[in-house]
Order: sequence, then structure tokens, then C-alpha cells
Amino acid sequence: MNKMEWWKRGVVYQIYPRSFQDSNGDGVGDLRGICERLEYLSWLGVDAIWISPIYPSPMADFGYDVADYCGIDPIFGTMEDFDRMLQGAHANGLKVILDFVPNHTSNQHRWFCESRSSRTNSKRDWYIWHDPKSDGSQPNNWISYFGGSAWTLDENTQQFYLHSFLREQPDLNWRNPQVRHAMYDAMRFWLDRGVDGFRVDVIWLMIKDQNLRDNPVNPNYQPNQAEIHRLLQLHSADQPEVHDVIAELRRVLDDYDDRVLIGEIYLPLERLVAYYGKGLSGAHLPFNFQLIYTSWNARKISNVIEEYERALPAGGWPNWVLGNHDQPRIAARVGKAQGRVAAMLLLTLRGTPTIYYGDEIGLAKLDIPLEQMRDPWGLSEPGLGLSRDPERTPMQWDRSCNAGFTVGTPWLPLSRDHQICNVVALREDQSSILTLYRRLIALRREYPALASGSYFPVTADEDVLVYMRCHAQGGLLVALNLGDEERVVSLPAGIARAQICLSTHLDVQAVVADIRLRPNEGLIALPIPGRTSQCAVLRRG
Ligand code: GLC
Repeated sequence: MNKMEWWKRGVVYQIYPRSFQDSNGDGVGDLRGICERLEYLSWLGVDAIWISPIYPSPMADFGYDVADYCGIDPIFGTMEDFDRMLQGAHANGLKVILDFVPNHTSNQHRWFCESRSSRTNSKRDWYIWHDPKSDGSQPNNWISYFGGSAWTLDENTQQFYLHSFLREQPDLNWRNPQVRHAMYDAMRFWLDRGVDGFRVDVIWLMIKDQNLRDNPVNPNYQPNQAEIHRLLQLHSADQPEVHDVIAELRRVLDDYDDRVLIGEIYLPLERLVAYYGKGLSGAHLPFNFQLIYTSWNARKISNVIEEYERALPAGGWPNWVLGNHDQPRIAARVGKAQGRVAAMLLLTLRGTPTIYYGDEIGLAKLDIPLEQMRDPWGLSEPGLGLSRDPERTPMQWDRSCNAGFTVGTPWLPLSRDHQICNVVALREDQSSILTLYRRLIALRREYPALASGSYFPVTADEDVLVYMRCHAQGGLLVALNLGDEERVVSLPAGIARAQICLSTHLDVQAVVADIRLRPNEGLIALPIPGRTSQCAVLRRG
């Protein structure tokens, strides 16, 4: 097991830096704040942190509009703060993964300022410019992910530029070799400083159809959906050439020891797994968001797990995600009680889990009124529930004013339950969700079956999901009750009894002859007596 790469055996924890810990009272989290909380992260037991963008940015999309790939935005601190944070993280045994945003820059990036200055500027081709159609309209029908046309006319040069997101986020032209080299240099800048890898933003969008063909209409579009779904993203995303670019990104990383490349990809399974690349030359971990989109039904989840396991290319390492800064929080989606079951699912499946900050304390949904809304997507398409603010509210550390997040005014409101739902209170409480997360992470370290064992489905119906993680050094059984009624499940054939190692209720540790699941309960159990036999029995069965 020691030979397994850290990004296979470890647990990743996503920090949305604006909302993690403020150190200077401006209401926005920062790098010194992260430094103050490294002890917490190492206590929790995670292995790596992924930090959403901290580069200089006008913050039109809160850092996903980068104005300089090799700097730190003053709101987050200085380069010295960054180096200190990186050193501190490493000293605490934590790897650091940065967000890399290659598809687009800020419109304030000097490359774009040059590019837009004239049609003949040497950086003109660094972005995607096109003449209007003869009637003056946009070059094609593409839609921005945040609504409206993906094209904006530049008055000065009378051409349109493409932006898959806000007009303040012009798309780079990755067909241009100079762009590629400039971006690879930016990656090396951070790798040389000691960063352990990148999570690459919207990696599947990096290359567009050379001929900029219109996207076809989506026949299933519903008016309550975001406008982007009006069209099928046939020509604006997931182009075959993107895999060559990703292989190049990967080669940049491979010149260094032990770094990881993670890709953000929202695509159906069969397309997603192509992002491992030919001969695994692509992303080490193409983010797997299947659990986010599958309804909370044990049978459906079981099917998704099996389909994913089947679709993985030989040698491709799986990964699982339950939430991030773009998706409703898991506790908001399935409720607080099931939030615990979800934690057990995430941390017992085969593959690298990514925990979203705050999920470990059960942060749930906060309704943020329109007048306080900050998310540009929520603001550009109001009334559709698209705002991502609810999943970006500040971390809750203690009972003090603003939950210890800031002594100033937090940039987004805190959830109302912060008097009880905070790290200090939950750390002391031996039955809290935070204690559960910590125990689950510790179990992954303790049992090779959880870190690297194979996945073996046992049974699934609407509410109950049972599977085993099999390993030569001993397997483990996981049984999850996604419903609110008690259920009794027999042990799989060949297993007479089992020792419960962990309940999501954090109470029982008995030896049992069948699995009795209370409402909303998940259990991890060690089959007895045989340490190895039970998986062999299951396989034969
Ligand atoms: C990714 C990010 C999201 C951002 C978008 C544009 O999807 O996760 O937060 O708005 O890219 O960069």
C-alpha cells in the first residue's frame, strides 16, 4: 500500500478561500487564515487541500477570472503568505493542489488588453475573435454558461470575442502554440515553488470546433433550466483535440515528482472516462460528479457505481465528489440525517474522495435574498435558483460573533445555526458529524480494504445499499440506509457474523449475525471469522 501514490490513497479537501478563514477583518478569507487552520485539517486527517483560485483577479467570477497566473491577489495576501502556507501545509503532511484556469482569462489580463488593442496585435490570435455575420450579428449561436450570447462585440476593432462564461472572461485560443507555452510556463512557476498539483477548471471546454459551427437545439430543454441547456454543446465543448492539450499539460507535470492533475468535467460517463487519456496520458483524476446528479435512491446509486467501475479504463483510478463551490450542499440536497450516510458513502467507495469544506460540519442551505446575492450566475439568470452563494457561505469555527470566520462583515451571510454548528462545538461532541468524518477518514487509513480494496456490490433496493470492499488483508462490509425506516439485511452468504466497526450514529460496536440498520443509518462491519475468505466466497457466488 505504501507504493500507492498519495493522490490515490489520500483524501482531498476543497477550500473555497474567500469563505474559509479571514485573518485581517475585511470579511473575505485569505492565505494567513488558511495557515491558522492547518492544524484543524491535519486533525481531521485529510491528505491534500485544493484551493480555489487565489490569483490576482477583478473578482467578476470570484477568482475564476484570472488577471495574472503567477501572482496572488492582495485580498488573499502576498506571495510570502503563499509560500508560508505551502510550507506550513507540507509540515503538517498536507499536499497543496491549486486551481488552474486555462480556458479563459480576465478581460483585465494584460494578454487580453493587448489582444483587443488592434486586429494586428501580436496577441490578437491568443483569444477567439471573429467577424460579425453580414447582418452584424454574432458569429454563431453559442450561449454563455451564465446565460446570454457567448460573444461580445469589441467596439474598437469591430470583431466579436468568445466567452464561455462572463464577458469579463474571454476564452483563450488553445489552438495557438504561444498560448500553450505561456500557460505551461505558468504551471511550472507553481510547480517549481512546490505545489503538488492542479485542479484544472472546465478542462473539457478548452478547445472549440475549428469552424465554430452552430450548436444544435436541445429538444428536451425546459424553460426552468439555465439558458445554456437550450442548445446541445456539440461544437463548443469536448472536442477530440482537447485530449492532445491535456496530454501536454500532463507532460508538464510529469517532469516533476509525484504531482497530480485533476480535471473538472461535466459530461456523461462514457465521455468522462476518455479524459484519462490514451494509455492514461490525460488527467490522473477526471472529477467524477455522478453522485451529485444521481437521485438519492440506493438502487440508482448502486447502478451508477457499477457503471462507473465498468467504464474506467484499465489502470484508471476512480474518484468521487459529493459537492463543490458550484453545487448545492449535500446536506441541503438530502437533509442533515442523510448527510451522515452520504459521508460514509463518499469515504468508503473505491477511489479518491473530495470533501467540500463545511460538509464535515453539516453546513446546509442558507437562502440568500436577491439583494445580498453575489454570484454572477445567480444575478444574470435570476429566479431559477442558480445562485451558488448558498454553498459558499463562511466556514463556522466557533460560537463567537461571525462564528470565528471574521471580525469584520462576512462577504456572504453565515448560516443561522452557527451557534451549534461549528467546529469547536462539534469537535467536543463524540456523536457529531465532524467526529464521524474524522473516524471515517481514520478508518480509510487503518483498513487497506477501504484505501485500495476492490468494490463488490452485495445488494441494493430503493433505500438500502450494501457493498463490500475486498482486500487480501481483509474485507469490509458497508451497509447504508438511505431511508427513514428500520431495515434488517442478512449478511452475504459465507459470512456468519460481523463486527460493527462504525455506525453513522457513532454508538454501536457489536458483533452481529445480521445487519440491523436504524433509520438514516450507515454501518461499516468487519466480517468474522475469516479475514480473506469472505470476498472469495462472494466472488464464487
Ligand atoms: C468552473 C468553476 C466555476 C466557474 C467556472 C468559470 O466551473 O468551478 O466556479 O464559475 O468554471 O471559470
